[in-house]
Amino acid sequence: VRLELSLDQIEKAGYPHFMLKEIFDQPNSLRNGMRGRIYNRQDKPDSWQIKLGGLEKALEAPEREGKSAIDIMASARRLIICACGTSWHSGLIAKYVLENLAKIPVEVEYASEFRYRNPVIGKDDVIIAISQSGETADTLEAIKMAKKNNAITVGIVNVVGSSIARETDAGIYLHAGPEIGVASTKAFTGQVIALLMVALRLATERGVMSDEVLDSYCEALNALPDKLESWFKDLNDQIKVISKYFRLASNALFSGCGIHFPVALEGALKLKEISYIHAEGFPAAEIRHGALTLIRNFVPVVCIAMKSDPAYEQVKAQISEFRAKDAAVIVLTDQENNDFNGIASFVIRCPATKLELEPLIVAIPLQLLSYYIADERGCSIDQPRNLAKSVTVE
Ligand code: G6P
Repeated sequence: VRLELSLDQIEKAGYPHFMLKEIFDQPNSLRNGMRGRIYNRQDKPDSWQIKLGGLEKALEAPEREGKSAIDIMASARRLIICACGTSWHSGLIAKYVLENLAKIPVEVEYASEFRYRNPVIGKDDVIIAISQSGETADTLEAIKMAKKNNAITVGIVNVVGSSIARETDAGIYLHAGPEIGVASTKAFTGQVIALLMVALRLATERGVMSDEVLDSYCEALNALPDKLESWFKDLNDQIKVISKYFRLASNALFSGCGIHFPVALEGALKLKEISYIHAEGFPAAEIRHGALTLIRNFVPVVCIAMKSDPAYEQVKAQISEFRAKDAAVIVLTDQENNDFNGIASFVIRCPATKLELEPLIVAIPLQLLSYYIADERGCSIDQPRNLAKSVTVE
């Protein structure tokens, strides 16, 4: 038997596109991101510990008096996250997580906006750059500007040895492996998990989280890749069906509250990027302030309605309202939740985890949805028109 495979087929490991391969890579890329960083303590094997090598060593600058990035972040006045595109969305999730778990104020900025205004940056601020490529020009410039103002800079980067990785004072790599598809998928979840680990590490450093609570988060993180893996097959089949139904849409809306608002933004961005369907993401309640005019017959509205959401009841009422206007509602909700049977056109059931980890689960059906809709439409998935994997021009 002679097997003929092109280099391209080998690189894609049998998948038709890099994007699909990268979506399915996620259980592994997340495992790689956590490897050696979350582990059981030697003295107490039932307890967990987080160690982030790149942030724990003493900083070189003498004025930092031998402190590590973790020391400085733990006592920072605020953390300022700078990023672009999908990385900006993971920054918004990180704000939620860092404020919730580590109780540190966080601001999230588009790197391009940050660098072109005159932001107030002090030496007690820490600037965190999030970048898959480590080469995005605006993010790199934001870091350089922060350094001129004597702030500490931290990189959350995938590409080893990239410009942002070299320019920052400290940082952690995602270890997500090469991401070839222009639309970011595994780097996004890699960024979220990296920042979750930072939040947990800072929470313990600041003494605002007990060992028991830390253990419960580490256990949930550790269980996540297997959970995703066992969900993938059914999810993939369901999303293929949904995608056929929506392939001719020309507009779509995504809504989510709290930690899921950035996931809604990311779902809309993915759809726009690769299927060329106009899509917008909203915090659920904001739809009332304008976008409600767009909700009508056949417009797909993707609603994230997880029961952990403090505004769940309001979101539920809103979904009934969308339905009454004949919109085609796709609801992402908890595994056992039957509240949307008979109301939503499709219900995507997500495996249970802790609230702060939910974006890592909820983002996946949205990645697959944009992938299969783009595929139905015959789009150039790995290289969408006009877009570049890394924007190194200003
Ligand atoms: C481009 C890519 C996006 C990416 C963004 C930021 O627009 O197409 O997928 O999110 O740049 O890139 P970075 O490498 O800095 O994360």
